[in-house]
Amino acid sequence: MLDASLTCGTLPAAPAREDFQKISDSADLDHPLIKQIVQKELGLDPRDVSQRLWEFAIAYAALESFGLLRAEKTGLSFGAGVEHLLYAISRKVKLLYVTDLYSAGSVWSEANANDARKFVIESAPVPFNPDAIEVRNMDMRKPDLPDASVDFCYSISAMEHIGDDADFIAHLREAGRILKDGGVYLLTTTCITAAETIRQPSCFPSRTCSGFLSRPDCIQPDASMHTLAIPLVILPFLRQGH
Ligand SMILES: C[S@@+](CC[C@H](N)C(=O)[O-])C[C@H]1O[C@@H](n2cnc3c(N)ncnc32)[C@H](O)[C@@H]1O
Repeated sequence: MLDASLTCGTLPAAPAREDFQKISDSADLDHPLIKQIVQKELGLDPRDVSQRLWEFAIAYAALESFGLLRAEKTGLSFGAGVEHLLYAISRKVKLLYVTDLYSAGSVWSEANANDARKFVIESAPVPFNPDAIEVRNMDMRKPDLPDASVDFCYSISAMEHIGDDADFIAHLREAGRILKDGGVYLLTTTCITAAETIRQPSCFPSRTCSGFLSRPDCIQPDASMHTLAIPLVILPFLRQGH
């Protein structure tokens, strides 16, 4: 069972799986494991220090540490858009449900498409396995999949956009429903390190400013200095009664 608290600081030399549940830190991109994932699996340049790169790489590392990136596994990405990570994962698993509210009217450029599968396939920035990708138009608050049907699910900077408390609760319940016993839901989301929680309709918490922390030990819970960090949160799922 993982501790619910988030860790600050950089990844240890030999990270255990719980070490990946932490706040973003640009220094992690110098970690040999993360560097290797960025270069070999994501096909990106680790010198391009960005929060996006950190999110993709740390999520990949965490999924791998749970033994979930294997040929017999089925996963699901909520609010996937055309994120870099999904293509890297498709090369490793049996099936990845790539889900979003894809539509020609979407305000999100990464989901603005009439033909969702064509859009996802044609947006691939790296080699991928098209046979392992099933694109579905799906609201993450009501995923249209049977109970206990996926080994893992994840969302990258997506779940904060779905609405208010009731929407988050519905989403987390549903993620629990479709996960197999012992499955894992892993997510990155925005987090403001301030004393006060700031609510914004359809975007919670609010994005007041952005900073990629290289000294997370310096964070002060000070309402006058809102710093945006990206934590990776890992939610292990155990079906009740087991
Ligand atoms: C910031 S984008 C992130 C996209 C992608 N995960 C990435 O990292 O590039 C947020 C995504 O969440 C999707 N989204 C918002 N509300 C959603 C919902 N209720 N169900 C499914 N996807 C949703 C949007 O369409 C958009 O593609």
